[in-house]
Amino acid sequence: RLVSMTEMLNKALEGKYAVGQFNINNLEWTQAALEAAQAENSPIILGVSEGAAKYMGGHLVVSSMVNALLETMDITVPVALHLDHGSSYDSCKSAIDAGYSSVMIDMSHYPIDENIENTKKVVDYAHSKGASVEAEIGTVGGTEDGVTGGVQYADAQESLRMVLEAKVDALAAALGSVHGPYSGEPKLGFKEMKEISDLTHTPLVLHGGSGIPKHQIEKAIEYGHSKINVNTELQQVWTKAVREKLAADADVYDPRKVIAPGKEAIVETVRKTMNIFGSSNKA
Ligand code: G3H
Ligand code: ZN
Repeated sequence: RLVSMTEMLNKALEGKYAVGQFNINNLEWTQAALEAAQAENSPIILGVSEGAAKYMGGHLVVSSMVNALLETMDITVPVALHLDHGSSYDSCKSAIDAGYSSVMIDMSHYPIDENIENTKKVVDYAHSKGASVEAEIGTVGGTEDGVTGGVQYADAQESLRMVLEAKVDALAAALGSVHGPYSGEPKLGFKEMKEISDLTHTPLVLHGGSGIPKHQIEKAIEYGHSKINVNTELQQVWTKAVREKLAADADVYDPRKVIAPGKEAIVETVRKTMNIFGSSNKA
């Protein structure tokens, strides 16, 4: 059974580790992520962007696939199915109605009052269905699903208002992280991070988790992050492995053999990442 993020994130906040959100793109990717979580005895959040959901045939296809895999793979660790960067109330509602156990409503590009008001609507609906909600304050930089933007730090008072007024379960307070590759070392606002964590006492979410060095990940967890999102790195290791397979084997044409190394690379990367986040053996 899918579970919401609420319990796993509150446990992580208390235990000073982070649960990874790993974004999925297809069947093998999902199998790989679940296999890694079970092997690490770790909770996991499967992230699905609106684009990835559309690619896979819609939310119902995704949730049916995930639920079937939980059964056939005998998955016993906690698994949340989470809409990543939901762009509207309707988008979040359709994911929940299709069986997602969690959503992110990303109204961060709207004025704060509008952001809170829209987030609150999503929270009211989600909580009535037992699903959890993540909101965003400030702006994560970089490009995701074709949308590019600059970094804008989250404001502490606005973060507090979001938590108190909308009652979100997790808060993505943008503090310098970017989607996609970093050019050089990431520069995260650790001082602001600590301030927001101390003020809100709510699990914080670090977007743009790919390419952040271990010591910065550890500090982000120390300063209140209990969820870290990883997408780009998985795409990179998958593509590298498949490219190498094709380069090494000019005769291969069975698609299952072509992409098999991609799946192995995902399992390995998710397991390694869970170790860094400290979620291994925390199921
Ligand atoms: O919401 C998804 C993430 O923030 C992923 O960021 O692609 O840089 O790992 P990333
Ligand atoms: Zn993100």
